Amino acid sequence: MLLTAIVGTNADFSYNRLLLQYMQKHFKGLANIRIVEIDTLPPFSEDTPADMAVWRFKKAIQLSDGVIFSTPEYDHSIPAALKSAIEWLSYKSEVLKHKPAMIVGTSYGPQASSRAQEHLRQILASPDCDAYTLSGNEMLIGNAAKVFVDGNVTDRRIQAELEEYFVNFVKFIDQTAEGDDAMSMHQPYLDDAYINFPTGRLSFREVQQIFSTIPFEIDLIDHNDKFSWFSNKPNREHVRSVREIGEGVEECHPPKALPIVMKIINSFKDGSQDSVSRPLMMHGHRVLIQYYALRDVDGSYLGTIEFTGSVEHILNFYEQGAWSDAATGASQTDGTTGASEHAETAPDETPEPKPKADSSDGTSGASEH
Ligand SMILES: Cc1cc2nc3c(=O)[nH]c(=O)nc-3n(C[C@H](O)[C@H](O)[C@H](O)COP(=O)(O)O)c2cc1C
Repeated sequence: MLLTAIVGTNADFSYNRLLLQYMQKHFKGLANIRIVEIDTLPPFSEDTPADMAVWRFKKAIQLSDGVIFSTPEYDHSIPAALKSAIEWLSYKSEVLKHKPAMIVGTSYGPQASSRAQEHLRQILASPDCDAYTLSGNEMLIGNAAKVFVDGNVTDRRIQAELEEYFVNFVKFIDQTAEGDDAMSMHQPYLDDAYINFPTGRLSFREVQQIFSTIPFEIDLIDHNDKFSWFSNKPNREHVRSVREIGEGVEECHPPKALPIVMKIINSFKDGSQDSVSRPLMMHGHRVLIQYYALRDVDGSYLGTIEFTGSVEHILNFYEQGAWSDAATGASQTDGTTGASEHAETAPDETPEPKPKADSSDGTSGASEH
């Protein structure tokens, strides 16, 4: 279970950060808690474009199973920096929608951030947040300077309460997920159905398994610029989540990559290009990303498909001279089957249409998380 824990302040020193660090250590057997800071986020404004820090922050929330907010109390409410961070998450974004949220907090005085927590509950219930907060479980830790000793909580009562609430939160996440699954079971779906292509018939199961077996991954941006589908390939280069389905192109790409991706998509829409290839280094190996315009039989634009795959094994073949005879037109023999390849299959006689290489993208890191 992956949880994102938001430090509710932009201050360098924070007892609320210590609280999350304590929870991260203490509950590591139950959940993987990733702590995120809000100090690098710009103050929210409708007129300020979301930058990389905002994009990463939203992605962290979107890809997690639940969120923990640890909030200080400032003037009987949450700090302005935390409010601004939540505005980034809720404005034209659904990353908090139905997201299980746990609220904790600690403060210097005896009030223990209770009023801030109450406000935070109201904020998270607003239509644009629409998070699922766990009611009843109020983790109020007052007198922070006494409670945290060398980053540890030694008070047994506080430890026990935190454990009880955290276990409740984990159960709450499981129940929420089960609820969502139960809902999807009521959606119409097809099983054991076939697609009859002019060239043969495939069952839906075979289609699914073909997509997870072919040596490259596929992502589809539909004609409305929405991320609509990705192939379920194991060990993907781009790690995708079903939570991203339905997002606009601008949400699923980092701001840095967006102009490049939009340029490609627009060139497919206006018909000036049909494909773009981008050689990249990803995770320490050579990868080729190929974008193709997906067109209907009448040529109208249906979307953009992105194929991504490691080309290490192909390049290794090439570097070991695998095709060196092919250039001479000599007949190739498959050592294992004895099958003889006709010279007409040699690549120099059936040239592939050269994809338009956009090598400048190779260094930009565009579209990479
Ligand atoms: C601007 C400001 C306003 C504060 N207002 C309150 C308050 O209304 N109630 C309260 O209990 N503590 C208040 N405090 C004290 C904070 O709870 C205390 O500084 C706490 O340690 C902040 O959490 P942190 O250590 O995670 O930053 C306030 C602190 C600041 C800086």
